[in-house]
Amino acid sequence: MSERIGIAVVGTGDWGANLVRNFANLPGTRLVSVCDADPQRLAKTAAQYPGVKGVDDVSAVASDPEVQGVVVSASAPSHYPLAKVLLEAGKDVYVEKPLTLEVAHAEELCRLAKQKGRVLMVGHLLLYHPGVQYLKKMVTNGDIGDLLYIYCQRVNLGKVRKDENALWSFAPHDLSVILHLMDQEPVDVAARGAAFLQPGVEDVVFVDLRFASGQMAHVHVSWLDPHKLRKFTVVGSQKMMVFDDMEASEKIKVYDKGVDRAGQVVSYGDALTVRSGDILIPKISLQEPLRLECLHFVECVRERKRPITDGVGGLRVVKVLDAAQRSLKAGGQPIAIDPLPQEIA
Ligand SMILES: NC(=O)c1ccc[n+]([C@@H]2O[C@H](COP(=O)([O-])OP(=O)(O)OC[C@H]3O[C@@H](n4cnc5c(N)ncnc54)[C@H](O)[C@@H]3O)[C@@H](O)[C@H]2O)c1
Repeated sequence: MSERIGIAVVGTGDWGANLVRNFANLPGTRLVSVCDADPQRLAKTAAQYPGVKGVDDVSAVASDPEVQGVVVSASAPSHYPLAKVLLEAGKDVYVEKPLTLEVAHAEELCRLAKQKGRVLMVGHLLLYHPGVQYLKKMVTNGDIGDLLYIYCQRVNLGKVRKDENALWSFAPHDLSVILHLMDQEPVDVAARGAAFLQPGVEDVVFVDLRFASGQMAHVHVSWLDPHKLRKFTVVGSQKMMVFDDMEASEKIKVYDKGVDRAGQVVSYGDALTVRSGDILIPKISLQEPLRLECLHFVECVRERKRPITDGVGGLRVVKVLDAAQRSLKAGGQPIAIDPLPQEIA
């Protein structure tokens, strides 16, 4: 096998610990260093991985010739400055979601990666989930007829953040899947939410997306909810699909349900007939999506490939989040989505 790819992980908190575990056990990869600004966190992580360097500042990662790819899993406000320093130093970078907290910053990172010829990947984990890949295949093959609308729920009683609201913390996952399945940008986005626990930090948000072809999508995110739900419902003109990531094995159900239009219309009431057929539960691979995502990053670094979840995908999601945030502030008013700058798209 060719030389192993040297990886560093910056930010080894709750989620970063999962990334460190994966990269420490990945074929063709060498975990060179872990970096955290919190000395206690750094000491805890470094103690678990003897032989891996522990550093407290990103500059030590940026200047380390043994490191080719860097994973940024620090808190969201630091994604932009960290990714910028690393790209400028010539590293390939995988940034956790959301790519940045500002559209201009996401655009700048996309331009910088292009200019430097570096890989820029975003942690849109669900696009590596075999369940989401199944949904995409069904939509692309036309197996559900025309895609009409999607709604999803990502709610639980969970980690209450103060740097970002539930929209920026949870919705990147749902929006990345919606944009992937719809394969287009929304025309406009409207959002309403409420900050019950901390002033100015919304705990619950409802987002509506409208697409040019008449399709629509709805996202409900919250960390203040009695249920733990991770669920997508995808409605097509011929079939309907439910992807429930809380199910241990039967994660997808495909319903042969729909409303058919009669060829020869006698009266208005006869024109539409409800069809309720079989339910299919396809076998979905249970491989850990995070491991598949980490393997993909290493493959992109080694083979100089453009990631499935590249910087432009990250920018698309940030644009929708930004519009939703502006709509929240404007009491739910729809906000138009501008096209991507030519040189980035
Ligand atoms: N893909 C997913 O499913 C998923 C799930 C959870 C979190 N995340 C993302 O992962 C990121 C981290 O989330 P978390 O829950 O682990 O947060 P966390 O607060 O538990 O950990 C963040 C860590 O980053 C460190 N840090 C902050 N700024 C730093 C800097 N400039 N240099 C070095 N270290 C720095 C902190 O000391 C802390 O240890 C967030 O962007 C979050 O959105 C992704």
